[in-house]
Amino acid sequence: MKVVELREAWSLDNLVLTERPRPEPGPGQVLLKVRAAAINFRDIVMCKGGYGRFAGELPLVPVSDCVAEVVGHGEGVTRVGVGDRVCPIFCQKWISGPPTPEKLSTALGGPLDGALAEYMVVDAEGVVPAPPHLSELQAATLPCAAITAWSAVVTQGAVTAGDTVVVQGSGGVSVFALQFAKCLGAEVVATSSSDEKLERLRALGADHVINYRTTPDWGKLAKAMTGGRGADLIVDVGGAATLPQALRAVRVGGQIALIGVVSGNTVELPLGPVVTQNLRLQAITVGSREAFEAMNRAIEINRIEPVVDRVFPFTEIRAALDYLASGQHFGKVCLSYE
Ligand SMILES: NC(=O)c1ccc[n+]([C@@H]2O[C@H](COP(=O)([O-])OP(=O)(O)OC[C@H]3O[C@@H](n4cnc5c(N)ncnc54)[C@H](OP(=O)(O)O)[C@@H]3O)[C@@H](O)[C@H]2O)c1
Repeated sequence: MKVVELREAWSLDNLVLTERPRPEPGPGQVLLKVRAAAINFRDIVMCKGGYGRFAGELPLVPVSDCVAEVVGHGEGVTRVGVGDRVCPIFCQKWISGPPTPEKLSTALGGPLDGALAEYMVVDAEGVVPAPPHLSELQAATLPCAAITAWSAVVTQGAVTAGDTVVVQGSGGVSVFALQFAKCLGAEVVATSSSDEKLERLRALGADHVINYRTTPDWGKLAKAMTGGRGADLIVDVGGAATLPQALRAVRVGGQIALIGVVSGNTVELPLGPVVTQNLRLQAITVGSREAFEAMNRAIEINRIEPVVDRVFPFTEIRAALDYLASGQHFGKVCLSYE
């Protein structure tokens, strides 16, 4: 089968298209034929060696997210059958409950081999059925970005009708966070570097939009847009450049979900307001299979459609990662397998 491996050293220059024997499922395992995949900011960081000792060993098959057809299984598999359309979960051993070091050390696309292969073998416990109304490309976007947004907005954020949620930028996590927040009846303030993308965020339901390039001090404006009360939840994917603004935008007693570091991972923060305004800074790390199943029910019942931007053949992964890194995309960048 065709597979893309990262070889020899952690660098995007070392992604190599090669052949491996098709894997065989053992007891309790399923053989998956990958139908579509989606890439994340994490895949770029992973290939560059940014996950250090948590990345595992080379050679590595990168990319965590895909949708696949079950085409075979070993003894004792009853959860799914041949012909089922499933998504492998991000952390293969995180079935339910809070994360543990053991659960978090089972992520696909590093340290475990991921989706840049025509076939994969995973535990039958490590997959969930894909929502039937989604296309293959849409279903492939769920395992990392969608579940992270779900954890921020639903599991940890407990957003409810009438709340205000701030989402940052128009990447994978943020667009899902916008969709989930609107589905729950929240008001959404969305930021982006591009006026054209802001119009698209409005079309997806954003109530207020701010261009963070032309309004770098956007935290104050976001708070004003909530009538001065402040937002109940800020879904922070920016890190260094966005956290100081998030502190200005959040309401007293509100929450900031710490998800990403697209603008840098080191920042000096005034801790006074965090304490005196009773703020909650809650880090988010993807989510469990149980959360994935709950999210899929919500996606199905509410007919939520993941937003797919460009699609590249999986063999052109380098071009796809370069495109993602350029920040031109809106929503998810996907990979095809035919
Ligand atoms: N904790 C977790 O479990 C978890 C899971 C998934 C992702 N993440 C992290 O979350 C972050 C986002 O991931 P993603 O996959 O959604 O990335 P992505 O699709 O590449 O989106 C990144 C977007 O961030 C926006 N952005 C860049 N600089 C910004 C800034 N200074 N202020 C506000 N927005 C800015 C851009 O939007 P515009 O083009 O609209 O400006 C860009 O498109 C990454 O750091 C990733 O590692 C964490």
